[in-house]
Amino acid sequence: MYTVTIDGRQVSVPPGTTILSAAERVGITIPTLCFWPGKPPQSSCFVCVVKVTAPGSSRFLPACAAPVADGMIIESETAEVHHLRRRALELLLGHHRGDCLAPCQLACPVHLDVPIMLQQIRQGDFHGALVTIKQEMAFAGLLGRLCNRPCEKACRRSQFDQGVSICTLKRLMVDWELLQQASFLPPVAPATGKTVLIVGAGITGLSAAWYLRQKGHHVIVRESDSLPAARFRKTLLEQTSPPSTEIDPQTILRVLDHEVATILQLGVAIELSRAVSPQEPLPSLLREVDAVLLACGGEARELASAWNLELGRDGVAVDRQTFQTRHPQVFAAGTAIRGKTSLVRKVADGKEVAQAIDGFLVGNRPEKPALPWSVRSGRWQEEELRLLAAQTAFVEAASLPDPLRNPQIDLSSLLEQAVQQAERCFRCNCRAASSCKLRQLAAQYGADPNRYSSLRPPFSLIDRQSDVIYEPGKCIACGRCVQAAEEVPGILGISFVGRGFDVRIGTPFDRSFAEALGAAADACIAACPTGALYRREVSSSPCSDLAEIRKSCSMGGT
Ligand code: SF4
Ligand code: SF4
Ligand code: SF4
Ligand code: FES
Repeated sequence: MYTVTIDGRQVSVPPGTTILSAAERVGITIPTLCFWPGKPPQSSCFVCVVKVTAPGSSRFLPACAAPVADGMIIESETAEVHHLRRRALELLLGHHRGDCLAPCQLACPVHLDVPIMLQQIRQGDFHGALVTIKQEMAFAGLLGRLCNRPCEKACRRSQFDQGVSICTLKRLMVDWELLQQASFLPPVAPATGKTVLIVGAGITGLSAAWYLRQKGHHVIVRESDSLPAARFRKTLLEQTSPPSTEIDPQTILRVLDHEVATILQLGVAIELSRAVSPQEPLPSLLREVDAVLLACGGEARELASAWNLELGRDGVAVDRQTFQTRHPQVFAAGTAIRGKTSLVRKVADGKEVAQAIDGFLVGNRPEKPALPWSVRSGRWQEEELRLLAAQTAFVEAASLPDPLRNPQIDLSSLLEQAVQQAERCFRCNCRAASSCKLRQLAAQYGADPNRYSSLRPPFSLIDRQSDVIYEPGKCIACGRCVQAAEEVPGILGISFVGRGFDVRIGTPFDRSFAEALGAAADACIAACPTGALYRREVSSSPCSDLAEIRKSCSMGGT
């Protein structure tokens, strides 16, 4: 037996054992990417690097392949080793072409999962699209009409011809809900026993209520006016006088009332015509509730002064990442901290402050809402865009009328048009975003995806008209798909082609991946640690019969 020390822990293992296996025996997990347990190591990624000090020398070795030697001292969890792992990941990402999250989702201040919503619409799953929208976005119907549309400005398709009508399609899903006189209510987590008082029933306050309630907190919204979103209503009526053809205030107010009613149906308590007075001492309020959110615009200044909170240039001073004031139980968001701001920013503030308050209530630490880690491939060349466009059905951009303003419109045919418009999406998000091991490790080690971005190859895609697609730009040449294919007898199989950083996976005789992999296709896709190998999206089968759609809804339409 050989005895080695890994991060200070001693273990005795038989000769021939790899460092990775020895580490596992003492409960130390060394990250791996190209290595597939039970298969011969490929040693191509170097993510499993460790520092090995043997008598007289010290080296960096891949733990998945290097065998132990007696007396080795091995370091895995040191800053030096982490730095090398980060660099190994950055080198892989330098040769990467793709985006984990689509530009539209990253640009949306609420980070709505636009590609999933569009996929659900393409597949005629309007209820699914509604669930995606409403779980993530309060006031989606209002935003569908009044948002300044940063997602559409960032849409990759807009670099090619016209961007996808993301906002309109989202709006249509909420209109569909409203016209059925239904309200989708997302699930509410079990009661936490915590209470949040929200001062102000404006857009930010009610948005925060929507998200906090979903987390299982008891939420009370207190509003000095006799109507929720009173300031919004007043501004809307002022701005649409004289009437504009673009915005119909009556339709907007109808949508607003529907969305406020849905928030209240979720179990949010609202107390109208009940101001929180600056004379009310903060300690006595905090005897009744666990956290207070100031979402009452300019009125928040007065409360903040009375409660000895700090004031900034635009309102109440907060930590801009956690929305926490200098009193740990008091938070502020929306126009209470920013002065004037856009509608979508108000909703996003509601979502982010709810996340921060939830973190504070359950973990005693306000959670800093952070954007998930993503490779961003930036601007694409015309050739690359053409390749993407060739993958999507040819549909011209068309504007969809508002069914609430035009009740004579046939909703079924409008939904069919929505399916076609959703087909225009380039599907820029990565199919493996939630399972990609490269992405998980890159986020874990804080890898900078752009450190070596000058090495990035142009986008390419190999499908040869089949339903198994290979994107070389996302391939890390780990060979796991080759190993998976080797296990299935009677198929053509795949192998490495090219040299150095250009090494990729190829099929014999220019056959498609579907033909070459045959019965092994799904196993190879599952073996791939990135999003390089995947199946084409199932083509849409729009269901235009509203009664049928409603009958088949599996989630909580009421
Ligand atoms: S393969 Fe992984 S890292 Fe690359 S774009 Fe997809 S999810 Fe992101
Ligand atoms: S083409 Fe689709 S996935 Fe890409 S940015 Fe536009 S809406 Fe998003
Ligand atoms: S396609 Fe094959 S070689 Fe490329 S990353 Fe996926 S499993 Fe590895
Ligand atoms: S070199 Fe060890 S996991 Fe890739």
